[in-house]
Amino acid sequence: MDFKDNINKNKLPKHIAIIMDGNGRWARQRGKERIFGHENGIQAVRETIEAAGELGIPNLTFYAFSTENWCRPKKEIDTLMSLLVSAIRSETPELLEKGAKLKAIGDIESLPPDTIAELREAMEITKNNTQLNVIVALSYSSQWEIIKAVKDIAKQVKDNKIDPDKIDKSLFNSFLQTSGTPDPDLLIRTSGELRISNFLLWQIAYSELYFTPVLWPDFRKKHFYQAVLDYQRRDRRFGKT
Ligand code: FPP
Repeated sequence: MDFKDNINKNKLPKHIAIIMDGNGRWARQRGKERIFGHENGIQAVRETIEAAGELGIPNLTFYAFSTENWCRPKKEIDTLMSLLVSAIRSETPELLEKGAKLKAIGDIESLPPDTIAELREAMEITKNNTQLNVIVALSYSSQWEIIKAVKDIAKQVKDNKIDPDKIDKSLFNSFLQTSGTPDPDLLIRTSGELRISNFLLWQIAYSELYFTPVLWPDFRKKHFYQAVLDYQRRDRRFGKT
């Protein structure tokens, strides 16, 4: 019996969000440049998508590039962007085979034109798939998302399209990048850091949090199954008794 066999298929999370952390440290431990860690992180992304697909988890969100990541050295940003382009290109056939739909959240327009083009093409090719949504957060931060939603709502209030008294959770949700996707049931962060780093702050109000010391490039299916098993042992009360 391995971890996977112990998972209760009737109690699966509908959405798992992942903060992929530790690529830089993984590379440094091997005396290499940080980008070597990002390159090796692709295999972890691949295995996670496969594991989620095999279990039947319908939504996976990866925090691939935060608004704050624009402050990294230009060389690292450029290499990360070309890595994204090549990963999207090489993984799209796999996504198609698994019935996975690629989606993106974040300030996509701020990405380099070739990254946007590759992303748009892969989203178009996979748009009719329904098994699994693979959502990539790019140039994303929760505070950016919330401010954008507030501005968009304010414009509609000004144009008399929204009555301020009618603003509630459901309306606010519809203005977020994640509109239409259930909130994460489980948030996983690798590398042992115990923080949220501006990721899906509104959406994780009642998510279960799972922190693992494993560095992202080492993250494999068994680690994903362990996280799901841990989640299934939790008693979720959503503020009730
Ligand atoms: C965090 O490690 C990781 C990132 C900022 C980038 C993650 C991106 C990938 C794995 C590439 C592609 C992703 C997809 C979805 C195709 P870090 O650099 O902050 O590591 P450190 O904390 O050890 O320095």
